[in-house]
Amino acid sequence: MTFKCAVVDVPFGGSKGAVRIDPKKYSENEIERITRRLTLEFSKKGFLGPGVDVPAPDMGTSAREMAWIADTYAMTGVRHATSIFLKDNELVERIGITPGLAGKSVIVQGYGNVGSHTAKFFHEAGAKVIGIIEYNGSIYKSDGIDIPALESYFSVNKQMNGFFYLVIFCYEPKEDLFYEQCDILIPAAIEKVITKKNAEKIKAKVVVEAANGPTTPAGDRILQQRNILVIPDLFANAGGVTVSYFEWLKNLNHVSFGRLTFKYEKESNSLLLQSVQESLEKGLNMKNLSISPNEEFEKLIEV
Ligand SMILES: NC(=O)c1ccc[n+]([C@@H]2O[C@H](COP(=O)([O-])OP(=O)(O)OC[C@H]3O[C@@H](n4cnc5c(N)ncnc54)[C@H](O)[C@@H]3O)[C@@H](O)[C@H]2O)c1
Repeated sequence: MTFKCAVVDVPFGGSKGAVRIDPKKYSENEIERITRRLTLEFSKKGFLGPGVDVPAPDMGTSAREMAWIADTYAMTGVRHATSIFLKDNELVERIGITPGLAGKSVIVQGYGNVGSHTAKFFHEAGAKVIGIIEYNGSIYKSDGIDIPALESYFSVNKQMNGFFYLVIFCYEPKEDLFYEQCDILIPAAIEKVITKKNAEKIKAKVVVEAANGPTTPAGDRILQQRNILVIPDLFANAGGVTVSYFEWLKNLNHVSFGRLTFKYEKESNSLLLQSVQESLEKGLNMKNLSISPNEEFEKLIEV
């Protein structure tokens, strides 16, 4: 792939990877789980991203696998954003925690699309998800909830209710789990859940805004005064829209990312020639001086 890209002048590095299985021997559900797991491992290592590597289908894979990859990548955004902040030694020291996600206690509000993926990805990064709050119940386990077990339960029962009867760690009253001691609190349900009325009660050191607008401006000021780090929604949950943007850009222009770069280069080279012409016209006081690229340069900037 590297040589192919070089021959056709596509500015991609080119790489190939594969999963060594016979896809015919696996169900669709198993293939989906394998694809999502692979995406997660790639993502953890920083191998994926619009500016890093965008996987494309090849033997045994199609648009279906690519959609799973894009979806999983977008959903890892909350964990990725948090780990960027928690890598900063000076910042974590200022809020009084150790760097990294491993071992951090986490409470997630909302176990929908964003919340369930966030719980899963934090768990897989070595964090301890100690609490999950839903509108109809909350579960809590100080040494960490078995997230894969919850996931399986949820996929069958389509709700968290019942899981806490099986494992006996329901939290009462359910709303108060929001104010339990933890390192990271992740509101991933609805807007305006942290306000001036309850911001004083939050015990987390970090609030990650996975939902849109979970903190009101007044609530945010109180968290800041209390030295609680708030990772804003604009950054924390932008994974989905980033993937959508690159898809849209690519479709809209009907060109690959590489050709977009060529277009940009052509435009900047034309501007460069234009500004040389204008400077010469001004400096030498010559009107209608024509600066044009020579044949070789013309060829280089041709799209
Ligand atoms: N889905 C996305 O791709 C995406 C991307 C960026 C931001 N967001 C934002 O993330 C938030 C959640 O979106 P989603 O797609 O996961 O929605 P969702 O409907 O799949 O999940 C929301 C979950 O929150 C629960 N919930 C509702 N009210 C609650 C309450 N008071 N207490 C506890 N739990 C409650 C619901 O029962 C549900 O399980 C929204 O603010 C949304 O705008 C979503």
